[in-house]
Amino acid sequence: MSFFLTSFIHLTKRGTMEEVIKIKGGKKLSGVVNISGSKNNCVSLIPAALLSKGLVVIHNIPPISDVYRLVDILEKCGVCITYTDNTLIIDSSNLVYKDLTMPEMGKLRASYYFYSVFLGLFKYVKANTIGGCRLGDRPIDLHLYAFKQLGANIIEEDGTYIFDGTNLKQGHIIFEKSSVGATVNAIILATQIKGKTIIENVAMEPEITELINFLCEMGAKIKGKGTNTLIIYGGQEMHGVEFSNIPDRIEVGTYALIGASLGNNLKIKPVIPEHIQSLLELFNVLNINYQIKNDTMIISASPIKQGVVILTSPFPGFPTDLQQPLTTFLSISNGTSVIIESIYHNRFAHVKELNKMGANININNMNIIIHGVDTLNGTIVSGKDLRGAASLVLAGLMAKGETIVRGLDYINRGYENMIVKLKKIHANVEIVSMELEEQ
Ligand code: EPU
Repeated sequence: MSFFLTSFIHLTKRGTMEEVIKIKGGKKLSGVVNISGSKNNCVSLIPAALLSKGLVVIHNIPPISDVYRLVDILEKCGVCITYTDNTLIIDSSNLVYKDLTMPEMGKLRASYYFYSVFLGLFKYVKANTIGGCRLGDRPIDLHLYAFKQLGANIIEEDGTYIFDGTNLKQGHIIFEKSSVGATVNAIILATQIKGKTIIENVAMEPEITELINFLCEMGAKIKGKGTNTLIIYGGQEMHGVEFSNIPDRIEVGTYALIGASLGNNLKIKPVIPEHIQSLLELFNVLNINYQIKNDTMIISASPIKQGVVILTSPFPGFPTDLQQPLTTFLSISNGTSVIIESIYHNRFAHVKELNKMGANININNMNIIIHGVDTLNGTIVSGKDLRGAASLVLAGLMAKGETIVRGLDYINRGYENMIVKLKKIHANVEIVSMELEEQ
């Protein structure tokens, strides 16, 4: 009896094997980073492809786990998918209705774009609530408001929604605040409803513009692209299309911050400068040594001699998705900086981990106050969400000594082959298996 008890205690203390990222910091980085297709764009294009029964071909789709989860959902609904060399071919001619209550729905946030797709196509959806990184409250009231404005009847019970679209009709939607997801869902549903729908105060992120381009190439009629008011003449015949996903502006920003910390003429491409204007403005203020030639950014390590104040806000403001890598970047500097996180109430899990590495950062309400230090020191840190984990990889690259970053699964949700890309630019980084206590 006592033998079994002792072995049990031993086992729980030893923990389990886990794949982690091992980084030996301080190396200068040079060469070329090839940027993948945008995660947040393709996760709306893939569900929206179902609006056409014709063949939809989308190039530059990154092999990240969010894409695989969407493909799993499509296949469960009878859609035939071919995915080779980052090109996704979607044949939905045999699409059948399935309740969207499968476990995959809970694994990513963008699964809720199937709500609007199915509501328009089948006039009924039973669906689970959705997943996504835990960044504080992430309500979907604006999505539900938009659906109701277009005639949907919605019942919510124990984490399940039932959407009834028997009385769908054109409508007028005025969003009280900017939401990427609610704008996408409103566009997709309105595109399927006969008549003229007006949507005001829409999100203006580049991913919205690209969704509109995609739908219009399939036959939709949408006016107002790039402004905050859209007019959708819904119910058009939709046909197949061949389309290319845009480069991921958040991946560009992440590698740009890596380059500004450790680059030696590091090249990043392709880059669409208008998509990262707010980051470039910050680089200008901080005298970061970078230039953009055609679609390539060339960037070198530049010491930060002053503090800055940055507010995250909807596009064209500074993206919340870069707040975490930026926190790391500013942690080694000669000044005190403040980042005001205005989008998410709890996108701060990285701060405690950075402080373990010797950073001096406090959080006061939604303000991240970064007192610059001279160095970070390697240790074991845990990423708790996608961009937070990426910010810890940056910290490991900047730090003295060896850093172990936990949370590889989060990185794989949104960054294609991050470790391979870092190795290619000479970072001392590898994935290793380690026995660690469960978190
Ligand atoms: N909000 C509401 N009600 C709603 C919807 C949103 O109050 O019904 C609030 C949110 O809580 C947040 C703000 O509005 O405070 C903006 O949220 P938004 O709806 O714009 O975010 P999202 O569509 O859920 C997308 C990206 C996020 C990115 C945000 C902001 C996808 C799949 N996700 O999320 O990306 O942070 O826009 O730009 O497109 C990431 O890539 O790491 C990521 C989290």
